[in-house]
Amino acid sequence: MTTHPQQVDPNTVPKRQLYTGANIPAIGLGTFGSDHVSPEQVAAAVADAIAFGYRHIDCASVYGNEKEIGRVLNNAMKQGVNRDELWITSKLWNDKHTPSDVIPSCMQTLDDLQLDYLDLYLIHWPFPNFHPVGCDVSSRSPDAKPYIHENYMKTWRELEKLVDQGLVRHIGTSNMTIPKLQLLLRDARIKPAVNEMELHPHFQQPELFEFVIRNGIVPIGYSPIGSPARPERDRTSTDTVDTQDPVIVEMAKRHGVHPAVICIKWAITRGQIPIPFSTTPRNYQSNLLAAISEPLTDAEMAAIAQIDRNCRLIKGQVFLWKEDQSWEDLWDMDDTITPA
Ligand SMILES: NC(=O)c1ccc[n+]([C@@H]2O[C@H](COP(=O)([O-])OP(=O)(O)OC[C@H]3O[C@@H](n4cnc5c(N)ncnc54)[C@H](OP(=O)(O)O)[C@@H]3O)[C@@H](O)[C@H]2O)c1
Repeated sequence: MTTHPQQVDPNTVPKRQLYTGANIPAIGLGTFGSDHVSPEQVAAAVADAIAFGYRHIDCASVYGNEKEIGRVLNNAMKQGVNRDELWITSKLWNDKHTPSDVIPSCMQTLDDLQLDYLDLYLIHWPFPNFHPVGCDVSSRSPDAKPYIHENYMKTWRELEKLVDQGLVRHIGTSNMTIPKLQLLLRDARIKPAVNEMELHPHFQQPELFEFVIRNGIVPIGYSPIGSPARPERDRTSTDTVDTQDPVIVEMAKRHGVHPAVICIKWAITRGQIPIPFSTTPRNYQSNLLAAISEPLTDAEMAAIAQIDRNCRLIKGQVFLWKEDQSWEDLWDMDDTITPA
C-alpha cells in the first residue's frame, strides 16, 4: 500500500453514531463514475484513498465497479487494514426488488467486493425499474412501477433477513420522502439506520433532514459538491452550481481552499455524512483533510443556510412510470405519495 506524507490517521476522522450504537466515519468516498470514469480508475482512487486514510466507501451494484473495488479491498486487508476498521456500503438496484432476487443480489455484491458482510445495505431507489447504463433522460422502462408500499415492504423484509443472517450489519433507504419513510417506520421490524439523500448547499432539504434526525436515522448526503460531472441525463437549464455561489466562493477564499471543500465542511458541520466522489488525489485528500479540520462557524453556517435554492440535480426522470408525468411526481411534493 502506498504511504502518503500527509496521511490522515483514520482514528482522527469524526464518526456518527447509528441507533444500533455502531460508529460510521463522518465522510465516505463515492464510487459512481457517472458513466464516464472507468471501473479501473475508480478502483485505483479507492486504493489510494484507503492508503491516505479513508475508511468509508459508498458502493452500489449499478455502478458496475464492485469487482474492481473488491480486489482493492482485499489487497488493503492483506496489507494490514482490519475489516472492522472499514465501513462498506452497497445498494440493491431497482431491477432486483422482487423478493426472490434480493438475497442473491446482495450475495453477488459480497462476492464481487470479496467481503463476508456489508456494514450497510440500502434500497437504492424506492421504484422497481430498469434502465440501461448510460441511457438518456427520455429513456423509460415499459415495466416501470410507482412506489407501492406493500411491495416495498416485501423487499424490505428480505433486507431484514440479510441482517438476521449476519450478511449485512445495517439496512437503510435512499431517495425516500417523508410520507414513504413514515410508512416504512410504521411497518419495519428493523428500522432504517440511514437515509441516503441528495444534499448540498443549493439543495438542503431541511424538512426531510430534520425528519430523519428526529427519527434516529442518520442522513448520508450524496452529490455533496453539486455533482459537477454528473451524466447529461441529470442536467437541466435551470440547475445552479454550488461551487460558483458567491457565498461559497468568498468563504473558500478566506479559508484558502477550493469551494468544493467548503461544501464538504458545511455537510460535516451540519451533521450529514458527505460521500464526495473523486479520482483526483489532491481533491479526495483535501476532502478528508476538511473532515478533520475546524468546523465552520455558526455565522458561516447561517450564511450557507440562506443560499438554499431548492435545486434538485438528480431528478430521476428515467424512473417515471406513466406518460405526461414530470420528475416532481417522484418526490411527493405535496407530502402525499403520488398515486399510481
Ligand atoms: N444514492 C443515490 O441515489 C446516489 C445518487 C448519486 C450519487 N450517489 C453517491 O454519491 C457520490 C457522490 O456524488 P456525485 O458523484 O454525484 O457528486 P459529487 O461528489 O458532488 O461531485 C463529484 C465531482 O466533484 C469533483 N471534486 C471532488 N472533490 C473535489 C475537490 N476537493 N475540489 C474540486 N473538485 C472536486 C470530482 O472531480 P475529481 O474526480 O476530479 O476530483 C467529481 O467530478 C457518488 O459517487 C455515489 O457514490 C448516490
